[in-house]
Formats: sequence, structure tokens, C-alpha cells
Amino acid sequence: MAPKTSSDADARRVRRCRVCNSKDLTLVLDLGETPLANSYLERPTDPERRFPLRLLFCNDCSLVQLSHIVRPDLMFRDYAYRSSSSATVREHVRELAEYLHANFLTSSKDLVVEIGSNDGSLLGAFKGLGSRVLGVDPAKNLARIANERGLETIPEFFDASMAHQIRQTRGPARIIIGNNVFAHVDDLHDLMGGVAALLDEGGVFSIEVPYLGDLNQNVEYDTVYHEHLSYFAVHPIETLFAQFQMGLLSVTRLEIHGGTIRVIGTKSKKRIPRSPFIDLERKCGLDRLETFRDLGYRVEYQKSYLKYTLDKIKSEGRAIVGYGAPAKSNTLLNACGIGTETLDYVIDTTPEKIGKYTPGTHIPIYETERFRRDQPPYALMLAWNYEKEIILKERDYTGQFIIPIPYPRILSKNPGQ
Ligand code: TMP
Ligand code: ZN
Repeated sequence: MAPKTSSDADARRVRRCRVCNSKDLTLVLDLGETPLANSYLERPTDPERRFPLRLLFCNDCSLVQLSHIVRPDLMFRDYAYRSSSSATVREHVRELAEYLHANFLTSSKDLVVEIGSNDGSLLGAFKGLGSRVLGVDPAKNLARIANERGLETIPEFFDASMAHQIRQTRGPARIIIGNNVFAHVDDLHDLMGGVAALLDEGGVFSIEVPYLGDLNQNVEYDTVYHEHLSYFAVHPIETLFAQFQMGLLSVTRLEIHGGTIRVIGTKSKKRIPRSPFIDLERKCGLDRLETFRDLGYRVEYQKSYLKYTLDKIKSEGRAIVGYGAPAKSNTLLNACGIGTETLDYVIDTTPEKIGKYTPGTHIPIYETERFRRDQPPYALMLAWNYEKEIILKERDYTGQFIIPIPYPRILSKNPGQ
């Protein structure tokens, strides 16, 4: 049966670059038509909508971006991802709060605003340090959890008009944070206008986005899904910030989520020098079309190699399960055509996902306990960015993990012991 494609009203085709408005966009990667990565199904027979999953390269500012933008309320109103579900993330946000608190706050009256504050993990860390906090997150289920924890959270999308409202009622913000939200926003000019309006003079805007340099180097095509509209190198971020009289104070590469950059910008009357990252990126070819054409070939190779690896194990009559059902696993499973013929089930720790089915591939999602009981001979680590954490946690596992990224590797037994 041909996949059902949704109407144009639900997905807008991109004709101009989100940062520089150029029309000179070239298709560099086509992952087919896939369902939304976080739309886990109650029943495997539930109807599903598919949308094109393709990447375009801007020949003017080098922003890599999706070709089709799905209506945000279809993706973000009821959000299954919980930032507090992994120890790595909990530790990461605690360190970030301590760093920003120590370097950029001067008094406990200073306001800290987080855009896309999820269940309040980061705000909770700031509150623990004595800061005044406010969250904004359109996922009503998550905003409710944060509010119940005493972390005031507005259950809406952040935009320029909300920024003015916050400034009027609570004063300017000393720190604004947007972790894993910048790549999710279509109208970046509206968001930046809001940030510039809400931010105090000399205040900082700290964002974290998956880094295009890591995606390219490690062939992390599974981090491409409809929620991620933009795939950032530093250059387009600097271009965008400059349009709002903001400069970059620092750029830091982080390991989290398979490779992230933290960019801290500030509103300042003084001229801030250009980030040295831009020359580094040029040297790596992140500003060139050929780099991303080549990425397309490497993705094809990686997909075929993973299929071959799994098919070989199955042909020997051995069972494979999936470990972790992150959003990105759904890009990988759908793009490679891996379903229940290959994986008996996947396990995940997120309560909202357990008992459901993976979008597009309809694999049942169970609790981790099931994996520990069954001890399947092979487990495909779909949450590969938590490799260290998972190996340590599963040191009693008697089977073998398969790590799909950057190229499929089968680990030896008991690597955690
Ligand atoms: P993320 O990569 O978007 O943070 O999502 C991680 C997913 O992997 C989330 O659904 C939880 C799941 N997971 C497990 O099931 N077990 C684990 O040990 C870890 C670290 C993550
Ligand atoms: Zn551009």
C-alpha cells in the first residue's frame, strides 16, 4: 500500500533560507517519507501520516535545513521526550546551571528564562542555586509537570509578543536559555526579536544545538527528523545573531546527544570579534555543497551496511532487539526499512513510550526489565549517544550490543565488566 501523504496544509515547502532568505537551496539528502519521529502509536494498526524528510543546503549562508516544515502543533503539543529521563542529561543541565550562574548572574533577583524548558530539569537546577526562574514550553503535558514541581512554566510557544509580555510583567532577563529548541523553530527572526527584546543589556543568550560538524563527520543522519528544522554550523548562527546586534561570546563543543555546540551570545554595544570557529568550519568544508553531497553517499553506504549486518545475524536464526526508542531511532528504522521482521521489540525507560509502537515500523516498546529477563543474543543500540551509560548499566548483559553510528560495530560480550 502506498504511504499516505498529508495535505499541504500540514506541511509547508521551504522556498527560502530561514537565516538569510536566499532562494539558492540545493537538495543534499533524501530520507524518503516518514511519520513524525515522536508519534508513537497506541496500536500498530493506527493510521499514520507521512511527510517528506529531505535536507537542503543554502548556497549563501550554508545553513542545512529541512525541505518541508510540519505544523508545529502536530509535533510539540504533546511531547513524549522527557529531559530528565537520562542520568547524562540530568548531570549536563546541573553543570550548565552552575556555569551560567557563576559567570553571568550577579544577584538572586536576576531573572533566568528558559525557552523549551521541557519538564523543568534545568530550571530546577537554577532554582536550587537560588535564582528566579521562568519556563516557556508548548508541551502542555510537560509544562504541567514543571508547574507541579514549583517551576513556573507558560504552556505556549515563545515568540516576540510573549517576550514583551514577560518583560512588562517580570522585567528583563539576565539569562535566556534555549537548549535543543533553536533547531526546532521555523521563524528564527521572530524568536531572536523576542530574545533581543527580553534580554537585559549585557545579558546572555545561551543555546545548545546538535552540531552539523558531528552530523557530517559521524554520518548521524538519524538526527534528521521533522522536529529538527535546521542543522547548524556556527557560521549561520553568527549571521543570524548579527542581524539582532548580538555577537558570540563563546562556542563550546560538547559530547552530549551525539555532538552539540553551546553558543553563548550577548547584546552589547561594543563590537565582538568574529568567532574563530568560522575559519575552522571552512577548513572542514562545512560551507561547501560538495561536503553534503558526499554525506549523502556515506549515508547510503551506512544504511546498506547496517541492513547487511542485521540480515546476516537473522539468517543465522539469532534474535535482535532494539535498545532505546529515541526519536532518532525512528528515522534510522524507517530509512533502513527495519521492522518486526528484524527486531522482536525495543525497550525504553520513558513511561509515555512503554506499551506503544514505533511510528512507521510498528515495533512494540517494552520496559527495560523485559530485555534483562530475555537476554537476547543481540541488541541494536538505537540510543547510541548514551553508549557509555548503557554499557555500564547493562554490565550483566550476556549478549552483544550493535552500535549503528558512525558505522555498524558489534561489541564484544560484557564490555562493561
Ligand atoms: P534522547 O537521545 O533524545 O535523549 O533519547 C533517549 C531515549 O533513550 C529516551 O527515549 C530514553 C531512552 N533510554 C533508555 O531507554 N535507556 C537508557 O539507558 C537511556 C540512557 C536512554
Ligand atoms: Zn541561507
